Amino acid sequence: MLVLGIETSCDETAAAVVRDGREIVSSVISSQIAVHKRFGGVVPELASREHLDKIVPVVNEAFERAQLKQQDIDGIAVTVGPGLVGSLLVGVSYAKAMAYALGIPFVGVNHIEGHIYSVAFENPPIEYPAEALIVSGGHTNIFFIPEPGKYKVVARTRDDAAGEAFDKVAKLLGLGYPGGPIIERLAREGDPKAVAFAIPRMGDGLPDFSFSGLKTAVTKHVRETGLTPVANGGEPSQGIKDLAASFQHVVVQSLVRTMDKIAREYYPRTLIVAGGVACNGKLREVCREMAEALELPVYFPSPHLSTDNAAMIAAAGTVKLLAGERSNLDLNADVTLRLQNIDLEEEAARRAGARYRL
Ligand code: KG4
Ligand code: ZN
Repeated sequence: MLVLGIETSCDETAAAVVRDGREIVSSVISSQIAVHKRFGGVVPELASREHLDKIVPVVNEAFERAQLKQQDIDGIAVTVGPGLVGSLLVGVSYAKAMAYALGIPFVGVNHIEGHIYSVAFENPPIEYPAEALIVSGGHTNIFFIPEPGKYKVVARTRDDAAGEAFDKVAKLLGLGYPGGPIIERLAREGDPKAVAFAIPRMGDGLPDFSFSGLKTAVTKHVRETGLTPVANGGEPSQGIKDLAASFQHVVVQSLVRTMDKIAREYYPRTLIVAGGVACNGKLREVCREMAEALELPVYFPSPHLSTDNAAMIAAAGTVKLLAGERSNLDLNADVTLRLQNIDLEEEAARRAGARYRL
C-alpha cells in the first residue's frame, strides 16, 4: 500500500510517499526556519503564506523522488491538528482536493500520533503495551498505549513544552533560533553541575512537567551573576556554556525520571521517545541508560524524522486506512485536537451508568 503523507501543522511543509507504513519511498521537508528566525519564533501568518507557496512544489518533488505518478498511490494521510489553523488548512484543503480528483481515500491524522509513528521506520515493530514520550516545541506528553490506536495521557506539561523552554532560554541568552540544537552544542563544552537547578515537581503529586519556572530560574541566574548574553553571533562565554549544560541537564532529568517512574507503574514492553527534542543526544543517552536498567527496548526516530515530517503522518495514516478509516470532504482542521481516547471511554461508560468496568 502506497500512501502520500502531508504535514503543514507548524513551520515545515512536508510530503512523503511511504510503502506499507514502514518504508520511506521519498520524504521532502521544506523548513521555514529562515523565515521565522529573525522573529525568534514562528509567526503564524507568515507560516500559512509560506505553506501556500511550498505545498505544490513539495508534493511534486515527493512524487519525482519516488519516481511515481499521482495515480500510483492508494491513499492520502494529512495532519488535521493540533497546530496553527492557517497552516493546517493548507494541507487539509490540498489533501481533500487531491483525494477527490484522484478518487482515492484520505484520512486526517493527529500530529502527535504521527510523532509516535515516526519510530515505525528503522526500528523493530513496536510491542504493546508501549510508553511514549512525545517532546517537541509544542508538546510534552507521556502516553500509555495498551494497543495500537489507544492512548492515555499519563503525564503532561502544565505550562511550556520542553522544546519551547529550549527556545526561550536560547533567546534570552542571545543564542538564536531554534534553541534546542544550539544549547545542545554549547552544553557539550559546559559543566552540567555548574548551576544547581531543581527538578520542578507538582504540589498535587501527579507526574506532570513544568518548564516555565525553569526559564525564570535561568533569567534570575543571569541577572544575579551578571552573565552577559551573547550579542550578534559572538563567541559564548564559559558561563553561558555552563548554564546551557545545567539547563539541559535538568530538562533531561525531569523527562527521563518521569518516564522511568511511569514504566515501573505501567509495565510497558516498548519505550518510545519522539518529537523535535528527541534529536537531543544527551536525552537519548540518558534514556538508553534508563531503558537498559529496566531491560526494555527504547526506540527513537532517526534525527531527520524527529522534527516535523510527512513520513510519520503517512505511517500513522496507513494503519488507519488499512483499518478502513476514512475522512470525508467536510473534514476541518482541529487546532486543539487531543490524543487521548481511553479515559474518554471510561467517561462515556460512567455517564451511561456503568459502575464497574471489568
Ligand atoms: O517536532 P518539532 O519539529 O515541532 C513541533 O511539533 O514543535 O520540534 C521542534 C522543537 C524546537 O523547540 C527545537 O528547539 C527542539 O524541537 N529541538 C531540540 C533539538 N533539536 C530540536 N531540543 C533539544 N535538543 C535538540 N538537539
Ligand atoms: Zn511536531
